Amino acid sequence: MTSPAARNFSLGIDVGGSGVKGGIVDLDTGALVGERFKLATPQPATPEAVSATVAEVVAHFGWDGPLGVTYPGVIVDGVVRTAANVNRAWIGVDATETYSAALGGRPVTVLNDADAAGLAEHRFGAGVDQRGVVVLLTFGTGIGSAVVHNGVLLPNTEFGHLEVDGREAEHRAAASVRERKEWSWKRWTKEVTKVLVAVENAIWPDLIIVGGGISRKADKWVPLLENRTPVVAAALQNTAGIVGAAMAAHGEGMH
Ligand code: BGC
Repeated sequence: MTSPAARNFSLGIDVGGSGVKGGIVDLDTGALVGERFKLATPQPATPEAVSATVAEVVAHFGWDGPLGVTYPGVIVDGVVRTAANVNRAWIGVDATETYSAALGGRPVTVLNDADAAGLAEHRFGAGVDQRGVVVLLTFGTGIGSAVVHNGVLLPNTEFGHLEVDGREAEHRAAASVRERKEWSWKRWTKEVTKVLVAVENAIWPDLIIVGGGISRKADKWVPLLENRTPVVAAALQNTAGIVGAAMAAHGEGMH
């Protein structure tokens, strides 16, 4: 499928620790055109294996238009700097080139997964019309973060790795920690509050958006939070990364 001339469409692919998800995005509305398509993240999640999976997702859509792909770690000028939740072989790899090579050399825009979700929530989701500093935190295998100021992304914030009370934030309060420890919502939310307080003391956002799969159950835990900044649940939920990747392929929010 190629992009119809009259409208802006991109394919966005969100690479996470457990799934590689893609969708064609209408950039005027932020809506997916047709179904989301998901494949399991290969294990071990090496650059070669993940890139081959990304290529399968592109082939599923038969897409030859603009393409944005996320990576769940720090990306500087296309090069991977961290790999907290994927195979360490990624470190130092040029993700832009690696994804592109698996796709026969076509251009690809690569950005951090939480940064993509932050762009999408700001433009089409829970942060629409919000001025000032918006922080998005995603709670999943790890904790991802994005900072958007008046619509422009400050890339590669890594609040999930802030030290909070002697422990890394994501080791304290990722959604995976709640599952592993079989914590109640109340118990886990205590840890999330500590992380939000550390973030708000460092950057004083106007709004915090909480995302990741666990935001679907926001009514169970967001009301229990005790930090000072207003907190809202992500609106796009499992499409935010896809939509943000598609936006980035058009250069939106990236400068
Ligand atoms: C990584 C972030 C990523 C987050 C969510 C963290 O461990 O360092 O870059 O956004 O996990 O995938």
